Amino acid sequence: ESCRKECQLAELRLVRNSFSLGDADGYADAVFVRFSASRLAAAAAALSAVKAPRRVARQRSEALDFLRRDARAEPRGLSSAEMSPLWGSRQRLPAFALGPQICAAIRRHQVTLILGATGCGKTTQVPQFILEDFLQRSAHCRIVATQPRRISAVSVAERVAKERNTRLGESVSFKIRFEDKIEDTTQVVFCTVGILLKVMQSNPNLDGATHIIVDEVHERDLHTDFLLILLRRVLNERPDLKLVLMSATVDPSAFQSYFEGIHTVSIPGKTNFPIQELFLEEILPKLPDRPGWRRSGKSNSKGSMGQKPLPVPQDERALAEALQLPMDLATDLAWVHQQRPEDIDYELVVQVVQMIHGSNEPGGILIFMPGWFELPTWEQQAIFAPQSGRKVVVATVLAETSITVEDIVYVVDCGRSRSTFLNEDTKISALRTVWYSKANGFQRRGRAGRCRPGVWFRLFSSLQWEAMDEYQLPEMQRSPLEELCLEVASLQLGRPVDFLAEALSPPSKEVLQHALELLHRLGAVTDAEGHSLTPLGEQLARLQVHPMLGKLLLLSVPFRCHNQMLTICASLGYKSPFQCPMGMEKAANQARLNLAQKSRSDLIALVNAYEGWRVGKRDFARRNFLSHETLDYIHRLREDLRSTSREVLSTVPEDHTDPDDLAEACKAVLTAGLFPNLAWLQRRGKGKSISGLPVVVHPGSVNSTEEWSTVVFYEIQETSNRFLYDSTVVGLAPSLLFAPSRSWREVHRGKRVVVELEQSWHVAVDVQVADELFKLRQLVANFLDT
Ligand code: CDP
Ligand code: MG
Repeated sequence: ESCRKECQLAELRLVRNSFSLGDADGYADAVFVRFSASRLAAAAAALSAVKAPRRVARQRSEALDFLRRDARAEPRGLSSAEMSPLWGSRQRLPAFALGPQICAAIRRHQVTLILGATGCGKTTQVPQFILEDFLQRSAHCRIVATQPRRISAVSVAERVAKERNTRLGESVSFKIRFEDKIEDTTQVVFCTVGILLKVMQSNPNLDGATHIIVDEVHERDLHTDFLLILLRRVLNERPDLKLVLMSATVDPSAFQSYFEGIHTVSIPGKTNFPIQELFLEEILPKLPDRPGWRRSGKSNSKGSMGQKPLPVPQDERALAEALQLPMDLATDLAWVHQQRPEDIDYELVVQVVQMIHGSNEPGGILIFMPGWFELPTWEQQAIFAPQSGRKVVVATVLAETSITVEDIVYVVDCGRSRSTFLNEDTKISALRTVWYSKANGFQRRGRAGRCRPGVWFRLFSSLQWEAMDEYQLPEMQRSPLEELCLEVASLQLGRPVDFLAEALSPPSKEVLQHALELLHRLGAVTDAEGHSLTPLGEQLARLQVHPMLGKLLLLSVPFRCHNQMLTICASLGYKSPFQCPMGMEKAANQARLNLAQKSRSDLIALVNAYEGWRVGKRDFARRNFLSHETLDYIHRLREDLRSTSREVLSTVPEDHTDPDDLAEACKAVLTAGLFPNLAWLQRRGKGKSISGLPVVVHPGSVNSTEEWSTVVFYEIQETSNRFLYDSTVVGLAPSLLFAPSRSWREVHRGKRVVVELEQSWHVAVDVQVADELFKLRQLVANFLDT
């Protein structure tokens, strides 16, 4: 109502003034017109969202036309940003009022940390504040703002361009892998961290940039932490360069000691309506019924992998006392307390959603699940069906920051997240479901109540919450470091051990050691310290993929299967295009088996899938349970890899033409390049890895029922089991020929030679066969060396 009045009033004044503008005092009129027009634009924007959009649009365009006609309103008149229909909503953001203060802080300090609740306007507004500050002084700036994910770099750039009423590219743009929308006039660039790192390879001091904004620093991903080491060094070289760090939930003290003289600005105020916060002990009594929910005693955990239950009382009496609960509730909670993070209770999730839906209160529901694997079965999905008229979104950690779902009132939060962890004992990196940190929890909470008072349903107890970590372990301390070490060596930043010691949270010595060992074993570095790269290492670094994948690419040349390996590496470096829709697992598995033909290889199935898709596109993808979008991206990665390989490799001979020869060549390359990722399968896809760990071929693999065979694989993922995802059956001969074995011990046991591939992997071979193989092996080795 007040917007409408404002609008009418402003319009009236404008119309009346338009008659006298020509002869009245010019300055006063210009000020007046500017004032009322910006109010009008804001009011119109607000109003257009409510009622009579056509009329308001007409009024607005008339008013703007009027302004454009009048030359005197132009020079310092309305900026195009003020003319944007989003001007009004920008002004309402908590960050908006702090614009001048933020600009002043950035001008005065080299490093600024900006903290503020999710949605308060950090990401979209801070770059604009700086830009406007420079525009006002007729100065030029070049702001590079990093985003943790491609999707957010693009959507934020689009949003900001819209807010500025400009075409994407004009003053605001984005640059992600394969898509560069930067023009000469661009002053604000949103990009991924990876892109900025790439830029720094050729422009280490970031010449040309005036401001670097690192957004969502709390995520503490590997690349951001790596970037921060480099930026800290650049700040010394370039005293004029400004660094701005932004986050909703970061612990400022860590950064305060890392960046000397860092200045912190906190944006006060909440964007949210009040949020009711419920723990499981408060939710359970509200549920209409919980039959079958209270299981007798034992946890339903299938494997022994992953995190243990949180250190909270698991005894019902202790619980009843600690939380002052009735006995039946304490029994339920005691059961919950015995759960491991991977034991997600879908029934509980469904019951909570049903309860919310049954309340007939309006508002969308956002459910946080650890990963896409944990989605309920078909029957349970029925309740999420759209006929209910309620928006129910099942999301992963991505919805914490990168994606905003509108109209969410209820957040159902399982308290878990899925991320990569390096098993310190086995040195296997695995995607694991773990308890999240409180910081994740607060992000999820912030997703509720953006449009009206909300509720945060935490499906765990207050005691479990207390036992959770404040922040997640930084990725640098929980992931493999091969690629990073290769990058450090290739950028000549010194010994990886010394360079990474400068990180905000340096990695553990053992993990670093393991990474360097792997690089040494691949032949990528000259010494075990990783001080410098071998010619092979240089080639691997230039390929810009995981060194193991790089080696596959290089080996594919002499083995004449380069095109196949390009597809395989593009997919392994990104993700699998195979899909397995719930309830259709059988058909999906059959489709994959058909694609594999007789190869007994998920990766050759992948190659065939890609070849088929290139011809049949969407239709082929649909028929074969493949993701068209993933294949499309794999295709682009592949093209990119192809052109970098062309630069790195001098000549690439023609591939084999016979399909059987091709398959054999691929298997040889996989064996040689993926070593020591080798496993021996016994019964129905179950077996042991080369280091003696029990492993299981994933049910989605074409080899899930393989018996008595050797497989090579790229990755192990530990969930309820230690699963091998992309496996390929290889004969004994290739594994003896191409795997870099430790020794061929000439220990005759009767008529056999024992070959030791790895400490726990011995193969006994007939003496004559061994002799043949040994000679062949020397030939192959000589061939590969040249
Ligand atoms: O970074 P922070 O979480 O502080 O907020 P932001 O991303 O700048 O978002 C400020 C406002 O812009 C929010 O209300 C979002 O809903 C809106 N926004 C949007 O509509 N579309 C985007 N792509 C990004 C933000
Ligand atoms: Mg943000």
